[in-house]
Amino acid sequence: MRLVKNLFVGISAAALLTACGAGGNDQGTEYAPNMYHSVAYEPYSQIDDWEAGRWVTSIEYPKLDSVTEGHAEYYNSNNFNPHKMNMRDPAPNTVSRNKQGWLPYRLGKDSLAYAAATLKNPLDSTASVIADGKILYETYCDHCHGAKGNGDGKVAGGAEGEGIKVVVNGETKTRNTYNGIANLRSDALKGISEGHIFHVITQGKGLMWAHGSQISPEDRWKIAKYVKTLQK
Ligand code: HEC
Repeated sequence: MRLVKNLFVGISAAALLTACGAGGNDQGTEYAPNMYHSVAYEPYSQIDDWEAGRWVTSIEYPKLDSVTEGHAEYYNSNNFNPHKMNMRDPAPNTVSRNKQGWLPYRLGKDSLAYAAATLKNPLDSTASVIADGKILYETYCDHCHGAKGNGDGKVAGGAEGEGIKVVVNGETKTRNTYNGIANLRSDALKGISEGHIFHVITQGKGLMWAHGSQISPEDRWKIAKYVKTLQK
C-alpha cells in the first residue's frame, strides 16, 4: 500500500513538473499571464488580431468603442490612429536627437572656417573627459597622427608591406605610406580651435577621410579636448 502511495506521489510530481515546461515551439503554460504581457501599447510590435490570446485569460477586456467587442489578451493596436498603428509619424519639422539629446551635425564639409569660429565644446575639461579622449585618439587617430600628434604614426611612417617602393637609407623597401599627414603640433595647427578639430574629424579634410559615421559626437568632442592637450 505504502509503495503504491509513494509511486502515485512520484508519478504525479513528475507529471506536474513536465507538463508546464516550455520547449520547441511550446511556450509552456504560464501562471498569471497578465503579469508578463504588457497592456501598454507596444510601439514596435503590433498585433491586430482581435482574438489573439483569447485562450490565455478569462478577463474580458473593455470595449474600445461602440462597435467592437472587447479584445483578447495579446491584441495590441491603437484604434484611434491611422491604420491602427501604435507608433505615429513625428510631427512635421521635428528633428531627431541622439541619446545625449544632441542635434545632428548640419555643417557641410566646406564650412570649416565657420565651424572653427563658432562651435564650442559642450564638455568641460575634466580629467575623465581627457582620459576618454586619449583612449579614443589612440583608437582612431594615433596610427596616422602619431601618439604625440607629430604626424608620424605607423601609417605615416610607412610600415613595411605591399605598398609603394621607397628608398630608406639607400635601401629600396616596400612600404604602406599615407602621404601628407598633418603634424598637429606644427605652428600652423597649434592654435586651431576645438570646433575646428571637431569639424575635421566629422567631415574630413583634404586627404583625411571623414570619421563622423564612426565616432559619436560626444566622443569627437572628447578627442578634440585631448588633441588640445597634445598641442600644448
Ligand atoms: C588615415 C590617416 C588619418 C587618420 C586616421 C586621421 N587623420 Fe587627421 N589628417 C590626415 C591627413 C592626411 C591630414 C591632412 C589633410 C589635408 O590637409 O589634406 C589630416 C589633418 C588633420 C587635421 C588638420 C586639419 C587642418 O585644418 O589642416 C586635424 C586637426 C586632424 N587631422 C585630426 C585628426 C583626428 C582628431 C583624428 C582621429 C579622429 C584623425 N585626424 C585621424 C590623416 C588622418
